[in-house]
Amino acid sequence: MGFVIAVIKERRAGETRVAATPDSVKKLIGLGAQVLVEAGAGEAAAYTDQTYKEAGAEIVSTAKAALGKADVVFKVRAPEAAEIAGLKSGAMVVGALDPYREKDALKALAAKGATAFAMEFVPRITRAQAMDILSSQANLAGYRAVIEAAEAYGRAFPMMMTAAGTVAAAKCFIMGVGVAGLQAIATARRLGAVVTATDVRPAVKEQVESLGAKFVGVEDEEFKQAETAGGYAKEMSDAYKAKQAELIASHIQKQDVVITTALIPGRPAPKLVSKVHVESMKPGSVIVDLAVEQGGNCELSKPGEIVTTKNGVTIVGLYNLPGRVAADASALYARNLVSFAGLLVKDGALAPDFEDEILKAALVAQGGKVVHPSLQS
Ligand code: NAI
Repeated sequence: MGFVIAVIKERRAGETRVAATPDSVKKLIGLGAQVLVEAGAGEAAAYTDQTYKEAGAEIVSTAKAALGKADVVFKVRAPEAAEIAGLKSGAMVVGALDPYREKDALKALAAKGATAFAMEFVPRITRAQAMDILSSQANLAGYRAVIEAAEAYGRAFPMMMTAAGTVAAAKCFIMGVGVAGLQAIATARRLGAVVTATDVRPAVKEQVESLGAKFVGVEDEEFKQAETAGGYAKEMSDAYKAKQAELIASHIQKQDVVITTALIPGRPAPKLVSKVHVESMKPGSVIVDLAVEQGGNCELSKPGEIVTTKNGVTIVGLYNLPGRVAADASALYARNLVSFAGLLVKDGALAPDFEDEILKAALVAQGGKVVHPSLQS
């Protein structure tokens, strides 16, 4: 028995990504799906209707027409009210639903009787690696952060020895070395910068060094225990934060480019770069704050904006950096969803195994209710 997957255009301001590409459409058809794509859905990511059609999708003129027939809807962001209203009863919705912030959308999905999966909640176990949207998107965000920095920086990154004089290599400091930070280090190194990096998790030190960068950090007893069993950072003590701020103070004033990516799951982003730190930096230096959506790592970041301080430091607080590499971000995201779809389908029919630990973890709405334990309040 066949089933229908719909992919509609993302309507959130600034969202350029799309939840399927021609390549992923072929794979979904291989799983037994009929795929409907709203006209223009991939336009902002450079995927044309024609290429979806060639891959085997049917192009439909409106989101409403696609949603009305869909058994499964693939999204990047949480659907909007009008989209939820257009869902078939019992439809499944899969996306980066941002469940802690999109509470109203989740409630509306539940009220509509939808079965919704938040891809952010897919556990980071080996079997789910191909479905890990946090990694696929953070990797590109880390890359793009360096490109944004290079754009805002009025000097070159690599050292150049020319007849007209020598250009010094940019000094680039990466704060927070998870998936995004590692890619930022690699990208800044490729551009020729001299790179240092910091984190509170000891495992990071070796990774930083293996990428040819230098580790800078407060390596006390607390640092040795800062990683949770899940591989994430803990919130650090006030005493540690004070030591870290002191170290940053002496290091940051010599830096040309600072890229911050530090996050603590379920908590606001740690404030690592204070007003005083920014004021100590040289005119022309650049900070890119990747944590703006979680409150920001820099005290002076303006969410969604690029600002220049009185002392001439440019702070880039743009949202959605993966959306600024939309074609690749969509391709990786779409592949993550294809892998996830493999858990919803058996022998060409929709047959989700709700006992599967990955599906269980990602399930946020079912049977008229918001069901995830972490969303009950
Ligand atoms: P994240 O996005 O939660 O945080 C980014 C970085 O900020 C982390 O490295 C964290 O230690 C650091 N940080 C937090 N507080 C800080 C502070 N006060 N000062 C400096 N740095 C601070 O992390 P992400 O990228 O999600 O990676 C977390 C871990 O998960 C890593 O160990 C990564 O290797 C691992 N991982 C495992 C996967 C798997 O097994 N499938 C897939 C992806 C990541």
